[in-house]
Amino acid sequence: MADLKTTYMGLELKNPLIAASSRLTGDADGIKLCEDAGAGAAVMKSLFEEQIDYDSRSMMEQMELFSHTDAFDFISHSSKDYYIDSYLEAVEQAKQQVDIPVIASVNCRHDGTWIDYAHRFEAVGADALELNIFVVPADVMKSGAEIEQIYLNILKKVQQQVSIPIALKIGPHFSGMANFFSRLDEAQVDALVLFNRFYKTDIDVENLTTKAAGVLSVPEESSLPLQWIALMSDRLSCDLSATTGVHDGDAVIKHLLAGAKSVQICSAVMKHGYSVFQEMTTRLDQWMQDKGFDSVESFRGRLSRGSSEFSDIWERSQYMKAISGIS
Ligand SMILES: Cc1cc2nc3c(=O)[nH]c(=O)nc-3n(C[C@H](O)[C@H](O)[C@H](O)COP(=O)(O)O)c2cc1C
Repeated sequence: MADLKTTYMGLELKNPLIAASSRLTGDADGIKLCEDAGAGAAVMKSLFEEQIDYDSRSMMEQMELFSHTDAFDFISHSSKDYYIDSYLEAVEQAKQQVDIPVIASVNCRHDGTWIDYAHRFEAVGADALELNIFVVPADVMKSGAEIEQIYLNILKKVQQQVSIPIALKIGPHFSGMANFFSRLDEAQVDALVLFNRFYKTDIDVENLTTKAAGVLSVPEESSLPLQWIALMSDRLSCDLSATTGVHDGDAVIKHLLAGAKSVQICSAVMKHGYSVFQEMTTRLDQWMQDKGFDSVESFRGRLSRGSSEFSDIWERSQYMKAISGIS
């Protein structure tokens, strides 16, 4: 048996597989199922900034108290507390029930009042905090630099509140992606989770309506995070975690070879069940033995851009070979 242990943001993981934030990790029982199936860590389902704000507003509307400022403050705070308290309770229970690291998660897009609560995740024992920052760059008045600044501001304010490691889970919609990642790295983010997968909207041409498109990923989607992990892993001090399209053990191995410290899994479990964790670790273990690698660190990053033989293959030359038919 090969040694599958690794570290991620300074946390010790028995293997690099992380149960990604989703309903699979919505409570302690779900996280326990992931641990029993073989996951090395779990990111809890996100607490949504919008969910809290929406609930505050709807409570206010129901109670017809909009004009009363004190009542607004009271209700909006008690509502926030309700959601946050339930979430903190779930983190606390998970910490009691499992041995693997438990990472709390917040889905946010503003450096707003929710940050005042961030220290409470740490207080109940969360091992780290993953911020799923979701700013769609669809505002014609906002420049790329302004949007990037939102991410940096959120990171800075949360860092002031907590001392546990912080990961940013982000999408691929940045024009100067390498530069932006470097600035997040300089700002001492502990990890980047590449890439968040956004819900996509499709159009139903028969009924002239919109509909949700593919909630679960397909394996082909893993090529984008793979490319960026390979391009950036040797250039950043922070850890990189892969998410989107990891459906089998070979995809796990590829991301580790590109330089990822951990690999997050969601759709594969939803499609095929919890056994995929075991199947992936078995494949990783067997592959390591076949290739003579006795630890994850002994091969991690071997095929990143930083390794001399593959210095430019992840950029243009790969594209040129593909279009010219040279394999
Ligand atoms: C039903 C569902 C719920 C999800 N909920 C969250 C969430 O609360 N927070 C989050 O950061 N990501 C959430 N995600 C995204 C996953 O964590 C993951 O990043 C994404 O599905 C891509 O990985 P995959 O290809 O392994 O599914 C969710 C995904 C699905 C399918």
